[in-house]
Amino acid sequence: MSETKTDAPKKLFIKTYGCQMNVYDSERMAESLDGYVQTDRAEDADMILLNTCHIREKAAEKVYSELGRLKPLKELKPDLKIGVTGCVAQAEGAEIMRRQPAVDLVVGPQSYHRLPQMEAQVRAGKPALDTDFPEEDKFAHLKGRSTARRAPAAFLTVQEGCDKFCAFCVVPYTRGAEVSRPAERVVREAQDLVERGVREVTLLGQNVNAYHGGMTLAQLIRALAKVDGLERIRYTTSHPNDMDDDLIAAHADTDKLMPYLHLPVQSGSDRMLKRMNRSHTAESYLRLIERIRDVRPDIMMSGDFIVGFPEETEADFQATLDLVEEVNYGYAYSFKYSTRPGTPAAERAQVDAGEADERLQRLQALITRQQRAIQESMVGRDLSVLVEKAGREAGQMLGKSEYLHAVHIDDARAQVGDVVPVRITRAMTNSLTAVEM
Ligand code: SAH
Ligand code: SF4
Ligand code: F3S
Repeated sequence: MSETKTDAPKKLFIKTYGCQMNVYDSERMAESLDGYVQTDRAEDADMILLNTCHIREKAAEKVYSELGRLKPLKELKPDLKIGVTGCVAQAEGAEIMRRQPAVDLVVGPQSYHRLPQMEAQVRAGKPALDTDFPEEDKFAHLKGRSTARRAPAAFLTVQEGCDKFCAFCVVPYTRGAEVSRPAERVVREAQDLVERGVREVTLLGQNVNAYHGGMTLAQLIRALAKVDGLERIRYTTSHPNDMDDDLIAAHADTDKLMPYLHLPVQSGSDRMLKRMNRSHTAESYLRLIERIRDVRPDIMMSGDFIVGFPEETEADFQATLDLVEEVNYGYAYSFKYSTRPGTPAAERAQVDAGEADERLQRLQALITRQQRAIQESMVGRDLSVLVEKAGREAGQMLGKSEYLHAVHIDDARAQVGDVVPVRITRAMTNSLTAVEM
């Protein structure tokens, strides 16, 4: 036999931090590296990539501690290459290699289509660094999607970057300016995904509703709704100022568009919103939700909040609690403000950390109470579930409702990829139980 060791595929381990866009990017990076198969064990890998997030201080520090843990692997296996990709790579660049010399490769979110050449370079023993914002569209230069069978729900990036410059946020610096992918390419990629078994796509963008790839997001959603075999469409994350009338209307007239909307507001205090450079008010946000609920009364609302933003007083914080009470969120993500170097808010008077912690706990208690009440109100209701995998108990299948609840179906007949009607029998803290109808 002529089989030699060099013919065996090399192993790639990718660890993904941060938002859903990083999940999508990790898939594309893995698919772009010929000659590698993925492993879920770092110890077995010939190449390790950490696809990183810079949104909060803790997220960035995690990367350095993980690199510290990985370093000894390199001593055991001198051919192992370690790379840092994503938003920390973009923000810190060469500093990463200075702080952790075990790193061979650093590539930012807008230039990872150059990863194959960079991989060859590090294999030849030369470190590789690329944090460009290139003119060319990286997606047009990436290899086509893998033909392997896929899970029924997939992410699909349609828009990247941000021009909004909220005073606390690193994203405009790490992802660059707002750019949209051409609609025909998005539709083609969705068709490809459907052929591989996908039934639901979540369209991703830092400001996905600012999409303008030759059409608006509402038009893109309607075009995707015509793709046979694609059953469900979602999109995230939206900015309140980019919610146009047509997108609101799509929630009423496009059956495949799911009744779920993640619409971050950050604070309920106009004073804070102004200092955050959010360019909307609490009132305009509430009126917007009212308009959406007028056409789609059952829409499940989700949001993001920051507590302890510089100069936030108890009265400002109370306004956030009031807004949460008024909206009644099915899901909400709240964060303690984290100082990010290079952003305008980093220079301002910081709120006492203990005070901020205490506010975060109060906000999270309120949100948990709302979520629980909404979960419990689902008992006895008929929902539809996209089945994603087998559940832990015998005969059970696990999937998502139209409102994005995790639903366990007992004694299921349905198979992975089916969308089935169910009746909810029980509400747990993080999931629902149901029987098939
Ligand atoms: N593009 C989206 C989400 C950006 S990041 C949007 O505009 O809403 C996701 C969330 O992280 C933000 O909505 C915000 O709530 C939070 N976040 C961003 N920067 C932060 C910081 N410096 N400190 C704490 N939370 C932050
Ligand atoms: Fe960050 Fe604001 Fe842009 Fe969202 S809109 S990514 S929070 S700057
Ligand atoms: Fe984090 Fe970058 Fe996403 S900073 S939240 S990985 S856009």
